[in-house]
Amino acid sequence: MTHDAKTALHKARQHLALAGSPSAARDASALMDKVQGDAPPWTPLSDVQMAQLDGYIQRRARREPISHIVGKRAFWMHDFEVSPDVLDPRPETETLVDVARQQPFDTVLDLGTGSGCILLSLLYEHRDARGLGVDLSAAALDVARRNAQIVGVSDRVTWRVSDWFGDVGTRFDLIVSNPPYIAEDEMPGLAPELGFEPRMALTDGADGLTNYRILTRDAPRHLRHGGRLMVEIGATQAAPVTALFQKAGFQQITVHPDLDGRDRVISGVFSPQTDSF
Ligand SMILES: C[S@@+](CC[C@H](N)C(=O)[O-])C[C@H]1O[C@@H](n2cnc3c(N)ncnc32)[C@H](O)[C@@H]1O
Repeated sequence: MTHDAKTALHKARQHLALAGSPSAARDASALMDKVQGDAPPWTPLSDVQMAQLDGYIQRRARREPISHIVGKRAFWMHDFEVSPDVLDPRPETETLVDVARQQPFDTVLDLGTGSGCILLSLLYEHRDARGLGVDLSAAALDVARRNAQIVGVSDRVTWRVSDWFGDVGTRFDLIVSNPPYIAEDEMPGLAPELGFEPRMALTDGADGLTNYRILTRDAPRHLRHGGRLMVEIGATQAAPVTALFQKAGFQQITVHPDLDGRDRVISGVFSPQTDSF
């Protein structure tokens, strides 16, 4: 028996909208694409495909992120593998890639690399650069390693389990990071989808600024003369994180907006005349 694809898609949209999905139409199309693979659009679904689609819809109705169900997320120029071991790459994080790629660098360190989406996109843009990606999660680095193959930069990237700079031990032209920055008391109000992501990728369990204190304090010991630190921030964190950059001696401190006009990235240059260098 076969099932009409348009009817199935329509029912999927309705089901997801009723379940409260904020992107029901887009989600239903993505799940249909996953079931149909390379088949021409609107090819009737077999019983097996229909059962698969129903299963995916049930998972999405429980608000599991669509990227976990389809196993990938489009970010910058590639489709990245995504699993429950890594943060689902967010569109606003492309702001960090966009700002960082405009700087000259031969070496780049990504702290809390997760899926590797930031580091790998930067290595894709800078074809002669080399990078180190670190994360406290070994499982995340396994995903990042596979993503390096997808992007085609495996020969220029190294991965290491490290508690921030703990096992880094050298200097870089550029340091980037999107650290966990959600404050503990904001966690209960978040969208249900975030409950499927690693807690250690989301929050510092405190005021949201703990990791910026560590990164700004320790980055100068890992930057070359004139090197840059660039971090993603939450939309309300520009003032306190700017103060941390100032305290650590960074210069040319700049707040960069995302495409929605919200403060999203802070960058600073660590210059040679700074005392603590
Ligand atoms: C917000 S996620 C960012 C992931 C990825 N860079 C992105 O932008 O999609 C933060 C990452 O920091 C990692 N992390 C958390 N605490 C860490 C620590 N103490 N040292 C290194 N990485 C850590 C988490 O495992 C997670 O992968």
